[in-house]
Amino acid sequence: MLTVRAPATSANLGSGFDVFGVALETPADVVRVERARETTISVTGAGSEFIPEDPAENTVGAVAKALDAPARIEIDKGVRPASGLGSSASSAAAAAVALNELYDRGHSREELVPVAAEGEALVSGEAHSDNVAPSLLGGFTIVTDHGVTQVDTSVPLVACLPETVVSTRDARGVVPDEAALEDVVSSVGNAATLAVGMTRNDPELVGRGMDDDIVTPQRTALIDGYDDVREAAIEAGATGVTVSGAGPGILAVCEGSSRRAVAGAMIDAFDDNDIESRAYQTRVG
Ligand code: HSE
Repeated sequence: MLTVRAPATSANLGSGFDVFGVALETPADVVRVERARETTISVTGAGSEFIPEDPAENTVGAVAKALDAPARIEIDKGVRPASGLGSSASSAAAAAVALNELYDRGHSREELVPVAAEGEALVSGEAHSDNVAPSLLGGFTIVTDHGVTQVDTSVPLVACLPETVVSTRDARGVVPDEAALEDVVSSVGNAATLAVGMTRNDPELVGRGMDDDIVTPQRTALIDGYDDVREAAIEAGATGVTVSGAGPGILAVCEGSSRRAVAGAMIDAFDDNDIESRAYQTRVG
């Protein structure tokens, strides 16, 4: 079978709502495909019991349909669903690359971004591309109406996932319809700082640029223990901490030498709130 691995992603990064995304070196989904008359899907791995295998309800089924590429598809989940690490996008990205190759469709990675985003529409109700773009292209990505801008970078990160669940639909439900101009001004400044930090591979600038007063405060309220975990990560050396995507995962940026301490502090802080968690010491990849 043809096998493709696609990384987890974090999108947004506090600032850059529905615009910024990063690919993480770990974890990742693995998708295996072979030609078939009709698409069938089997799912194993992290949280597989929550993922529908009916192609009409699975992100990967939507990708197979969009590429007119029926296949027997096996998904091995490394990225836990509803964790804030773009789980559905990883599967969709891996399937898009695999099926494109299996059927010699000839699409570039950039051309596969809207194809993989079709799968996202099934999960969140909107075909947004901020998770599938970094999963397909790697690095740091900026998605706008003008297309995708990609930058290779390797900023160190810790992604800490509590064993609690926040659905993307719920997390989008708390996003305000309007924002005060002063908050927009501050968010634009932070987003620009973060983007420059990514291009310079500078954890200090990236961390500073994660601040956001529009979307993030609404979402942290949905994550038990968030304030304690944030404070512990900063004390352990994180230069910035925010909600990973729609949550409940929490993303910290730091120097590579601080990753172990930051990961331990975040796990301990969740533990103090009687919440089990798992931390990935990773980097943008
Ligand atoms: N940017 C989206 C959000 C992605 O934050 O709602 C969710 O995976």
